[in-house]
Amino acid sequence: MTAKEIDVAAVRDDTPGTARVLHFNNAGAGLMTSQALDAVTTHLRLESEIGGYEAADAARGAFENTYAALATFLNCGTDEIALMENATVAWQAAFYGLASGFRPGDRILTAEAEYASNYIAFLQMAKKTGIGIEAVPSTETGELDVERLEAMIDDRVKLIAVTHIPTNGGLVNPAAEIGRVARAAGIPYLLDACQAAGQVPLDVEAIGCDMLSGTGRKYLRGPRGTGFLYVRKSLLDRLEPPMLDLHGASWSAPDDYTLRGDARRFENWEFNIAGQIGLGVAVDYANALGQDAIHQRIRHLSTLLRAALADVSGVTLHDIGRDKGGIVSFSCAGVSPEAVKLRLREQGINCSTSAITSTRLDMSRRHLEFINRASVHYYNTEDEVTRFCAAVAALG
Ligand SMILES: Cc1ncc(COP(=O)(O)O)c(C=O)c1O
Repeated sequence: MTAKEIDVAAVRDDTPGTARVLHFNNAGAGLMTSQALDAVTTHLRLESEIGGYEAADAARGAFENTYAALATFLNCGTDEIALMENATVAWQAAFYGLASGFRPGDRILTAEAEYASNYIAFLQMAKKTGIGIEAVPSTETGELDVERLEAMIDDRVKLIAVTHIPTNGGLVNPAAEIGRVARAAGIPYLLDACQAAGQVPLDVEAIGCDMLSGTGRKYLRGPRGTGFLYVRKSLLDRLEPPMLDLHGASWSAPDDYTLRGDARRFENWEFNIAGQIGLGVAVDYANALGQDAIHQRIRHLSTLLRAALADVSGVTLHDIGRDKGGIVSFSCAGVSPEAVKLRLREQGINCSTSAITSTRLDMSRRHLEFINRASVHYYNTEDEVTRFCAAVAALG
């Protein structure tokens, strides 16, 4: 497949925001399509017209479609999907679910570019239960070093938890190679695919992960406040849902409860139904375009952006990784990252910033504190890359 397979004019027609802003903040939140927006507003309107519970009954098919769309997207069963309010809650359900079995001396292996919220949860567990956290060293190009990972495996390793695409920079960790090591050793593998979902192809069988967390609003272009968790069926009973309600379990006897048989045991009862229906429509859209075509166009545009930014006087790129993704990180001499973001926003150009507190191990290793982040999507254009770089050049 080639990048040309995405009809850029058509996807921009479906994306009203492209007429208003130059949006290079897709790692923050992608622009929603009209289709996803319509699905959300239609359901909200129905709730206001006939009642929230009655609207949920009427939209049961559209809501169930979200599980089906995600199952197609990830190549898993619908019973392996839980809908959550964001990627953090999804990741935590898996992590704390497994962590209830951790004992002092157990080890967690992670990556140097691990996301802050995940690492904070590791630290909390380390304080509570005496587990060890070890970041697998990176290769020269920045990826988690799979050979070093393999060498670190022993009987005390109870979890491999890695961020696929970190919050900033071009890095794409070798998720499937990590999966092969985890499978061979029989160690549960939790993949944080928050920034990967909708950017690079995801297939839980090819990757070999047991748990995967994602968010709706970023590269999947769904509404805010939506996310999802995949849990491999064979692992389901090894995870104790950290919180349970009458949706995840039924109160089956006065002194007992029975867990649901599927991944929805990690959900709770009250849902942003409109948002989750919108997420399903957004995932359908990604499925229709094809994950390979999306990936290739993002790679094409981010390669152009890196090359063009490198030519701007005073700009330093901070990306690492052998085969880089759609998130480009940089700084401008003499202009603070916050000022870059705000001055571009005044011109209708969106990008964002990244601080050391989001990926402390990686950024301190590279002596970075605060940088800019420009993240492209398939609906962006070559002309927008040129305009963005001209605007950055004019800041100096
Ligand atoms: C790598 C990574 N994981 C998890 C998250 C958290 O996602 P959410 O805000 O949907 O909880 C982010 C957010 O930026 C992220 O970059």
